Parts: sequence; structure tokens; C-alpha cells
Amino acid sequence: MASPSQNGSDPPQPVRIAGTGSYVPDRIMTNRELEDLVETSDDWITSRTGIRERRIAAEGELTSHMAAAAARRALEQAGVKGDEVELIIVATITPDTITPATACYVQQELGALRAVAFDVSAACSGFLYALEIARHAIAAGAFRNAVIVGAEKLSAFVNWTDRNTCVLFGDGAGAAVLLPSEDHHGRILSSHLGTDGAQAELLNIPGGGAACPITPDNVEKRLATLAMQGREVFKHAVNAMRRASETAMEKAGLTTGEIALVIPHQANLRIIDAIAERLNLPAEKVFVNLDKYGNTSAAAVAIALDEANRSGRIRTGDRILLVAFGAGLTWASAVVEW
Ligand code: COA
Repeated sequence: MASPSQNGSDPPQPVRIAGTGSYVPDRIMTNRELEDLVETSDDWITSRTGIRERRIAAEGELTSHMAAAAARRALEQAGVKGDEVELIIVATITPDTITPATACYVQQELGALRAVAFDVSAACSGFLYALEIARHAIAAGAFRNAVIVGAEKLSAFVNWTDRNTCVLFGDGAGAAVLLPSEDHHGRILSSHLGTDGAQAELLNIPGGGAACPITPDNVEKRLATLAMQGREVFKHAVNAMRRASETAMEKAGLTTGEIALVIPHQANLRIIDAIAERLNLPAEKVFVNLDKYGNTSAAAVAIALDEANRSGRIRTGDRILLVAFGAGLTWASAVVEW
């Protein structure tokens, strides 16, 4: 994989994560229910992926609604009011509409009428791409705060007749509020982003854009749903997340032993185990919740971060590593001192 020329340089003004939030829909879809839809089994899904169930949004429940719910919780924890928000970035590949950006709907829902709002499309790495953009924007003095959100309604873009993909994905949202850092708590120590567009075909939604517009024929062929070469993606995911983890730790001047918790993208337990093994990380230092939610793409790291934060898995002073990988291909990592 080509390495990007330059990214993730440290901004002069430190930036911290001041609050986290998440939201998942009430509806739980178990592996057993999928047995009625496609030729699969609870045993296959659990043993090959680690996923036991996922959340499915209600019909009228959109990515923007989930994003706003997660953002509200993050804002409350950070003590920032909706009308004080200056920047909203929503990372998603399942926007409510092609245009305007889902972040615009979130702005309205939050009453954040002074905020600049836009989306980032970097698939499962999107939340960490948003983190990097927002921290540089705050460090540069362009904004005093930011709400970053990873939110997905993947159930609307899954081919429910394809067992290779439909068992993997779920819906949900996670958010974080970023502020300039007056002390060390929650400070982002380092980050790293990368992209390899040469592998774009491995994981995509081929239809619905200008290249393959929505027509009755294209809909019939289910071209506006997720398509993936799972085995290839698996290999790239392990290599890219291992390298991205090492780069972020190196930039932060830390070794694996100094990391209290790793929060990886939640796609497949076998991918997470392979990365942990390569990085020499004991299982108790790796946060996993994909058994409950499946792969929620841009939302996955954000939901996991919020759960780790609120459950006390992260303590003040802990150094945590966030790492993600997704379609693009894209990858991203960050080290945060809590
Ligand atoms: N139930 C039962 N059998 C299934 C199945 C399912 N849901 N999905 C695939 N299979 C079958 C395949 O058809 C294949 O059968 P065959 O040997 O008769 O051809 C067999 O299981 C093995 O398929 P393979 O694709 O090699 O399985 P795998 O071990 O690679 O696991 C994934 C498949 C998708 C779980 C795995 O490749 C993966 O997790 N890839 C990365 C996914 C990912 O991370 N995506 C998002 C990136 S952000």
C-alpha cells in the first residue's frame, strides 16, 4: 500500500476530547433472525466474525436523527450548549440525502444555528478523519469548539439477499466534542491518516452516484447496496490498522506497553485479534463491542469510545489508541491522553 506523502502533523495548540456520546436504535436483530433471510447460521456468523446481534433503525429513523442524539449526549457531557457549537462534522456513507450534507440536518436538530456543518466521506475511518480535521481547525483558531459524529443507517444500503455482507452491518451513531486544551485531560497526542484509492473496488456501493445513476434496472440488480470482496478486505484491514497503530504510537513517542486501551474499528473479531497479536497487546487492553452492534462503519470507533468512557474503562491519564480502516481504502489512527 502506498503511504501518503504527509499527514497528521501536530498542531501548535493542543486540543482535547471534552465529551463523548452515542446512540443506537432500540431494535435488535439477532443472528437467528438472519437465518430466515439468507443461507447462514448463528454459528457461522459468530465464529467467523464475533457478531451476535446488531441494531436496526426504524423506518423513519435517519442517520441525522441518530447523529443528533449522539451529539446531544456528547455536548451535555462537555457542558457545551447547542447554540454555542461552531463546527459540526458528520462522518457517514449513509447520508439522509446526497445533498445537502447530513450535518446540515444535525445543525437544525441541535439548534446550532451559528455552526458551520459539513459531511466527511471516509467510510469506517470517517470519525477519525473528522477528528483530525476538527482538531486542526480548532488549533488554528478558526473555531472554538467542534462536534464530530460518526453515524450510519447501513441497513438502508445492505443487500438483504447477500449473505456475504448482510450479516456484518448495523446502525448507530457516536460523537465527541472537541475543545482547546487548557490542561492535559483528553488531549489528542498524535494522529495519522492514509488512503489507497487503487483498492477502491474492494468495498463500495457502486450505484446511486453519477457513475451508475438510480434506474429501475440498477435497483433491480441491487447496485445501490454494499458490495465487498471480504477476504481481500480482511488482509488489507489487518495490515493497514497494524501500521496505522504503530505510526500513531511512534508520533506520540509511546510504546505499546504505555497504551492503556486500544479502541479499534469494530468489523470482525478475527481482524481485531490479528492486530492485537501483531502489536503484542493482551486481550484486556482491546475494547470490543461488535458482538452487540456489528460493523457500524463510521460510527463504530465513536460508539466504542463513548462506551469505554462511560463505563469507566478509560481513566484520567490513560493513553488510548483509536484505529480504523474502511472503504477507499482508508485508514486512520490517533493517540489520546485521557
Ligand atoms: N453464512 C454462511 N456462509 C457464508 C456466509 C454467511 N453469512 N458468508 C460467506 N459464507 C461462505 C462463503 O460463501 C464461502 O463459501 P465457499 O467456501 O463454499 O465458497 C465460505 O463461507 C468462506 O467465505 P470467505 O469469504 O472466505 O469467509 P471469510 O472467512 O473470509 O469471512 C468475512 C468472510 C466477510 C466475514 C471476512 O472476510 C471479513 O470479515 N472481511 C472483512 C470485512 C470487513 O472488515 N469489512 C469492512 C471493512 S471496514
